[in-house]
Amino acid sequence: MPTLIRAMVMHTPANPFQSDDAFEAFADGAVVFEGNVILACGAYDNVRRAYPQAELLDERGAYLLPGFVDTHVHFPQLTVIGAMGLQLLEWLKQRTLPAEAALSSVPAAEAAAEVFLERLAANGTTTAMVFGSHLFDAQDAFFRKASSSGLRITSGLVLGDRNLIAELETSVERAREESEALISLYHGLGQLRYAVTPRFSIACSVPLLNACGELLNSSSDLYFQTHINENTEEVALAQRLFPESRDYFGTYEAHGLASKRSVFAHNLHVSDSELTRMGACGCSVAHCPSSNAFLGSGGFSMTRHLQHDVRFGLGCDVGAGAGFSLLNESLRAYETQMLREDGYRLSPKHLLYLSGAAGAKVMGLADRIGDFSPGKEADFVLIRPPHDSTLRAVLNGVLERTNCCEAALGVLFTLAREESVAATYVSGRRIYGHNQN
Ligand code: GUN
Ligand code: ZN
Repeated sequence: MPTLIRAMVMHTPANPFQSDDAFEAFADGAVVFEGNVILACGAYDNVRRAYPQAELLDERGAYLLPGFVDTHVHFPQLTVIGAMGLQLLEWLKQRTLPAEAALSSVPAAEAAAEVFLERLAANGTTTAMVFGSHLFDAQDAFFRKASSSGLRITSGLVLGDRNLIAELETSVERAREESEALISLYHGLGQLRYAVTPRFSIACSVPLLNACGELLNSSSDLYFQTHINENTEEVALAQRLFPESRDYFGTYEAHGLASKRSVFAHNLHVSDSELTRMGACGCSVAHCPSSNAFLGSGGFSMTRHLQHDVRFGLGCDVGAGAGFSLLNESLRAYETQMLREDGYRLSPKHLLYLSGAAGAKVMGLADRIGDFSPGKEADFVLIRPPHDSTLRAVLNGVLERTNCCEAALGVLFTLAREESVAATYVSGRRIYGHNQN
């Protein structure tokens, strides 16, 4: 039997960076789904008439949005959140790499994976591109927990053979063997996919990057993720380590790592030549605004990415980022653009697009998720403002005054966080929920 959820419904069936009527909202709306598939989305009265037999979940007073898609987040970095006062390279050396090395026992890795996956779902994230662990057993544990979480997860063993700490460094042969073992165990298992994941060029020898290219190109549906152009010292170091390379992007490009299946995190200090080549290869970028501010890395030029047709989505980048909330990340993206001279003037509908459909495009999943079009899979986040909250007070006032859905959406992105997420659905299955208020 189909299920009908009644709430304020908002989604972006088209791209608001390209079209003025990309945003669709129903103040008294409904989405109907059966099994894992969306059957209809629209005004409650119309949808109810078409599906009188559907089981009703009456969520009036709540807001139904497409599930959030996080294009960049690190599994072993939960306990690094809040490590203040350092920029990227020192932050890695002093705080982050030692924390990642601590997941050396299977029970520790399983416990960390469980908390990590639970927090993603508790924040309304339904799909994520996850930077894994350098440690095989920890990454194996992560995939096992991910497969029972119900989330859509793309992840991979992180690879590096230099400039890290001894416990995390691998060899080219081991990198190849361990990656192949994890690909054969988990790639395509349920909602899991594998991404070849060199940490960044700085941690990789040329033979290791070459092996990554061979792994990626061994199958046409594997993904690729790494970091690029995040911090000026990092960019200068990449140039010193790869003197033959034209620029940072060239270090990946030269090894067959630049394609439609490639997701590069950050890309702040990027040249026009790099952007042109990224656009031509169909590469995507994970924009991580809270991390970029926290590490003092710099600001993201959305305008130049748009001009060069380089796709981008949002990433919370835990542990440099400020938690798992893509609502928060969307607000930070908005603020970043407001502060920049070349800033793109984002509106709530752009934030809605960035938090879901844009990430689905980055991850090659746009034919299945990202909005409520009939036929897409039923991935939702239900937001219910807690009783005693500023969020509820502001929404009540704004809706009374304007009755405007997009105004309400602006309030949600500004004030709603983890505590307002009432339920998270993936493929029609409720994977997180609490009954509050
Ligand atoms: N560059 C290489 N590793 C990392 C990481 O763990 N976090 C961030 N923000 N940048 C990186
Ligand atoms: Zn990262």
